[in-house]
Amino acid sequence: MKTVADLGDLRGKRVLVRSDLNVPVEGSQITDDGRIRASAPTIDDLADRGARVVVCAHLGRPKGSPDPAYSLAPVAARLAEVLGRPVQFATDTVGDSAKATVAELGDGDVALLENLRFNAGEESKDDAERQAFADELAGLVEVYVGDGFGAVHRKHASVFDVPARLPHAAGDLVRAEIAVLQRLTGKPERPYAVVLGGAKVSDKLGVIDNLLGSVDQLLVGGGMVFTFLKAQGHEVGKSLLEKDQVDSVRSYLEQATERGVEIVLPVDIVAASSLDDDADIEVVGADSIPADRLGADIGPASAKLFAATITKAHTVFWNGPMGVFEKAAFADGTRAVAEALTEVEGLTVVGGGDSAAAVRQLGFQESAFGHISTGGGASLEFLEGTTLPGLTALED
Ligand code: 3PG
Ligand code: MG
Repeated sequence: MKTVADLGDLRGKRVLVRSDLNVPVEGSQITDDGRIRASAPTIDDLADRGARVVVCAHLGRPKGSPDPAYSLAPVAARLAEVLGRPVQFATDTVGDSAKATVAELGDGDVALLENLRFNAGEESKDDAERQAFADELAGLVEVYVGDGFGAVHRKHASVFDVPARLPHAAGDLVRAEIAVLQRLTGKPERPYAVVLGGAKVSDKLGVIDNLLGSVDQLLVGGGMVFTFLKAQGHEVGKSLLEKDQVDSVRSYLEQATERGVEIVLPVDIVAASSLDDDADIEVVGADSIPADRLGADIGPASAKLFAATITKAHTVFWNGPMGVFEKAAFADGTRAVAEALTEVEGLTVVGGGDSAAAVRQLGFQESAFGHISTGGGASLEFLEGTTLPGLTALED
């Protein structure tokens, strides 16, 4: 992959940067700006090189037409603060506002286009529709830089089709992410432990399948763990459960035993009558979740067990919270895992939107971790070993 420096003199050139600025927004408040801060250095570097920088990105999952709830306007304001430079905001992506905004840029100026996903062509499965939108985007600029690591697993116009139309390079964020994740897929220092959480086991089956060939320990918590507990024959009450995945999970448990991979599951669970603030909460054995309760976090004995396993490892990858960490009553498991990662002697990687936001919300210093990835699905698919359209597109 070419780097930005390989693109030659960029002064006066219009450069499209695909960033991942998909941050959590409540109203017009950005609750975690990690992805904006991670994207800033490449934008800053291009502006320093005298390029006319046109940033494009998505926010949330609008359905292919403009929806004010998903406007990037608050992100433009925050990006300007982080960069310490003005950011012009185009109120459409490839329309009159975008064209006028790009035309007015001087050397070293920065603009952000409105949400890519306000255009049906961005995510279209129909190649012709996607490519027509890619033509419009590419028509705004002369050069493309792919730096939105969190979206490289999406075969979208701005990620996959635009680089085919322009001289292109990988931005420093994408390069840094790949360099770290390659240390996990190469020869990680052992023991190598992976901690998986989050709601859905179906999102993680591919990566679990691949990890069974490389990890020493696989620790599972979060909403997905109840499908594991069910596969072991336990009742899980009202907890999240993907019934159609129980058989696959059972087969992974068997394979793990055959391959000598230790699967570490919680031994106790914080069981709640509901997720409301006045809920009744008790800690129960993982094999005895009452029928009228739902699991909202791993319990204290599990937190100790997980921490003990993690701190012995020399390479750790973690994706997905252990419980409903947004609520203080259910944040202890996630906090214990984060804390344990900070004590590891070796490489620690926190993958993903949710877990990255969790460590910051729980007050941890980013510098306490080896690497905090901006990609959730993208880092999992990288570890899964699948081809990522946005990386393929950046190859020379
Ligand atoms: C993410 O948040 O994981 C990326 O920005 C990709 O977003 P998506 O899952 O909506 O495609
Ligand atoms: Mg995409």
